[in-house]
Amino acid sequence: MQAAAGLLYDYCLQQAPSRGVILQACMHPRLIDVQQRHDVHCMQDFRSDVLELQQAGMVCVNEWPQQCDWCALLPLKNRQQMLGTVAEAWAHVSEGGWLAIVAANRGGAKSLHKQLAQLGAVHHLSRAKCRLMVLRRHGEPAILQQWRDAAAPQRSESHGLWTQPGLFSWERMDAGSALLLQLLPDDLCGEGMDLCCGYGVLAVSLLSRMAGITRLHGLDADRRALLMAERNLAAWQHRIRLHWLDAAREALPANMDWIVCNPPFHRGLRRQTELGQQILVQACRSLRRDGRLWVVANRQLPYEQVLREHCAHCDILVQQHGFKVLYGVGR
Ligand SMILES: C[S@@+](CC[C@H](N)C(=O)[O-])C[C@H]1O[C@@H](n2cnc3c(N)ncnc32)[C@H](O)[C@@H]1O
Repeated sequence: MQAAAGLLYDYCLQQAPSRGVILQACMHPRLIDVQQRHDVHCMQDFRSDVLELQQAGMVCVNEWPQQCDWCALLPLKNRQQMLGTVAEAWAHVSEGGWLAIVAANRGGAKSLHKQLAQLGAVHHLSRAKCRLMVLRRHGEPAILQQWRDAAAPQRSESHGLWTQPGLFSWERMDAGSALLLQLLPDDLCGEGMDLCCGYGVLAVSLLSRMAGITRLHGLDADRRALLMAERNLAAWQHRIRLHWLDAAREALPANMDWIVCNPPFHRGLRRQTELGQQILVQACRSLRRDGRLWVVANRQLPYEQVLREHCAHCDILVQQHGFKVLYGVGR
């Protein structure tokens, strides 16, 4: 991501000063120069990146500015989401303005380039295994509506919940989450948390089965996921609290009777085992004494040690089809 960001921000620095937006903005030393040269809005849905930008004195916003001469887009893993984001940017950039899109060669830059060519001439340059593609915004090519529709919130054909391309396991329930649900007791009650809740697939299942749950906290770093969780949990709106937080770095709701968690082990395109470990340390600390924690993870991820160190008692409940479910009791 850093190489892609460097290429994109260098391009922005070569352009005449004007008003623009950086989508999926992430911290990089060149971003500070970009902000000095342009009147720039940084937009970012992922809380961890927002915190890093804020730490460097940058302001992140969720709203598009009234006028926008250009838009710079960092890579997204999901192609539907990426093209939908290009279409969104197209709608906001003034006629004749520019869009710059960067992608890693191994992240499908070449095929993205072909798709972008449906919007007009694409100028490109390559550096550090990344490709920068630049387009002028002219008119409203018909393909844009298809891209917007494909990337929009939609109900999953598999489980009927609201979801959106690019969210974790967006088309169907993750096999690990399904295994976790099988192992949870039927009588969870009191105040609990779906930690790293995504679009709320675990929370919906729990609330629809267990009337004794008085409050469920759903917490995720991805703002888009929480917007879908809000729709999916609307029937229980008086019993839920949604939190846009980085669970590895920010204070979590405390004194929980129980927590369920399918933690992430990727940050963007990068694999990060410590991320899951940090989140689980925080989860253990959020439990009340004797509160209960259930965690599902890929079998090879080293989470047992965290539970051993931070719980009064812990166990592996099952290991099956490449997953394991861990159980811990708060102390
Ligand atoms: C493996 S998914 C589980 C999603 C959902 N609970 C499910 O079972 O489908 C992990 C979730 O963690 C979120 N996430 C990633 N990093 C995070 C962080 N630092 N803090 C909070 N949530 C994070 C991701 O956005 C994703 O929704």
